[in-house]
Amino acid sequence: MTEERELLDEAREAASRSYSPYSDLRVGAVVVAKSGARYQGTNVENAAYGSSLCAEAVAIGTAIAAGERELETVAVISPDLPAIYPCGECRQHMVEFGVQRVILEGADGEPVEQPLEVLLPGGFTDWRQPTAQ
Ligand code: THU
Repeated sequence: MTEERELLDEAREAASRSYSPYSDLRVGAVVVAKSGARYQGTNVENAAYGSSLCAEAVAIGTAIAAGERELETVAVISPDLPAIYPCGECRQHMVEFGVQRVILEGADGEPVEQPLEVLLPGGFTDWRQPTAQ
């Protein structure tokens, strides 16, 4: 099995634990840190709809809470949609911790890899650093 397929399967497992009674859209994500460790996340909705959390943000937060600071890959899937792309806010969370690539499942069921730089060109970075644009 390819690594991409493995990550999407793990993200699907996370989606099975989605708390999404308001949208009925289950989303699962897996983060692979530079250390090689993997962290799962799923969307966590709220009766105050705007307080809902995306699967990717939960997975990234879980990785950071475990002590990771550099992340490499995020895989995201929804069993309720042919293909799901991360929302803009989650893309910005990915920029913060150096995510390089995003793995999605295309409408044909095959893994699709997208560089984060393509999904969010020029994402905002720490303005105090000389390298910031
Ligand atoms: N959602 C995610 O978990 N990730 C995304 O990238 C897009 C949207 C969730 C949030 C909410 O629980 C549901 O999908 C509908 O917006």
